[in-house]
Formats: sequence, structure tokens, C-alpha cells
Amino acid sequence: MRIDILTLFPEMFAPLKESIIKRAVDDGKVEINIINIRDFASPPHYKCDDEPFGGGAGMVMMCEPIYKAIESIKTDDCKIFYMSPRGKRFSQSKAREMSELNHIILLCGHYEGVDQRVIDMFNMEELSIGDYILTGGELPAMVISDAIIRLIPNVITPDSIVEESFSTNLLEYNQYTRPSVFMGQSVPEILLGGNHKKIEEFRKAQAIEITKKNRPDLLKPDLLKDS
Ligand SMILES: C[S@@+](CC[C@H](N)C(=O)[O-])C[C@H]1O[C@@H](n2cnc3c(N)ncnc32)[C@H](O)[C@@H]1O
Repeated sequence: MRIDILTLFPEMFAPLKESIIKRAVDDGKVEINIINIRDFASPPHYKCDDEPFGGGAGMVMMCEPIYKAIESIKTDDCKIFYMSPRGKRFSQSKAREMSELNHIILLCGHYEGVDQRVIDMFNMEELSIGDYILTGGELPAMVISDAIIRLIPNVITPDSIVEESFSTNLLEYNQYTRPSVFMGQSVPEILLGGNHKKIEEFRKAQAIEITKKNRPDLLKPDLLKDS
């Protein structure tokens, strides 16, 4: 899979060079290209933003540098996404769907956003990571890339993806590791016994409780009955 990220701030992307994502890149499972939109702006000033037509606060990112940047990287099967608080909410199921694409381009806005004409010209899909406003699309692009890359086959252990929050309608159960007693607090006895059926039942009950408490909207109505 190839992920191209278009940004005015390429130095913000250091987190994609660490840990599991770095290993996925090193193993050739994903190619990540960070592209500086300013490289496609015109000299002498390399201007990438201007005042909004119609007035209003802030600056708007101009069409031309973005257009030229996309023209230089687009492929026949690429899909282009604009990071935008106005977009549809990104989710685990969207991450799964996107992880099956060959080539995606993520456009990071800044300031007041991007001139609508370039969004329309490339039929971009707008994606939001939540109902709040960030200063730019760089963090959303990293969040979305991370969520997608870990779903590429064998980037992480396949079992980890099956049993995690949002893979079903339940959030995950509590996790524990060594030591079995820490400052007087013991790990639930059942997890030490090796009875896999009992452990599975215990974890399922815990997952239901946690989901009821934190995200009842995820639960099927029959699991909510005694809350
Ligand atoms: C300050 S925001 C612009 C907000 C815009 N004026 C509005 O009211 O919808 C600048 C850029 O940050 C990015 N951004 C901010 N919040 C975001 C979010 N929740 N999800 C995705 N991108 C976001 C977008 O790329 C946006 O163009």
C-alpha cells in the first residue's frame, strides 16, 4: 500500500518513523511519502495561501500548488481524502475499508482550510477525526495512517486485531501482566488458572460492563436490558 501525505509542514510527521509503523515501512508493507505542497508553489515567494473571497477571518490554501502536487503523484487507482472537520467521521470500519486500497492521498488543510475548487476537481472524500477543530490536518493524517497501517495483513499479530475495541460491538476487557500482585493489588484469580473457557466468559462479561458504562450506544439492545 502507498500513502502520500500532502502538507505545508512535513517536519510534523516524525511519529510515522517510529515503532510499528517504522517496521511496516522497513518491511515494505507500506510506502509513506510526505510531500511538501510549498515545493509546487511559484517563485519568488512560494505563496500557498491567500485571503478568502467574500471576506472573513484567516487565510485559505490556494488551488494551484495543491493541484500541481496531486498531478505529480496521482495514479489511476488512487483515492484522495481531505482531512476536514466537516467530513464524515473516521471510524474503525472506515480504517478497515481504506486498508484495502492500493494508493491513498491524504491532503492536510491549515488556516481556514482549502479552496473548494481543488477539493471538487479531484472528487476528494472529506474525513473528520472528531467533533473538534485542530490547527491543521497533519495530526488527523497521522491518526488515519496509523489506524490503517496496523490493519495491513501481518503488520501486527492477526489475533490482536480480532479481539479489540470496535472489532465487535464491545469495547475490550481489562488487560494485566506480570507481576501477579502489585502493591497489594492482585490480578483476577481466574486469569491465572489456565481455564480458557472460563477466561473467555470472564472477559466477555467484563467487556459488556465496560461498554455499558463508557459507550452504551455501541451495545445491542438485549445486552443493555439490566443496566
Ligand atoms: C482550523 S481548521 C479549519 C476549520 C474550518 N474553518 C471549519 O470551520 O470547518 C484547519 C485544518 O485543520 C484540519 N482539521 C481540523 N480539525 C479537524 C478534524 N476534526 N478532523 C480532520 N481535520 C481537521 C483540516 O485539514 C482543516 O482544513
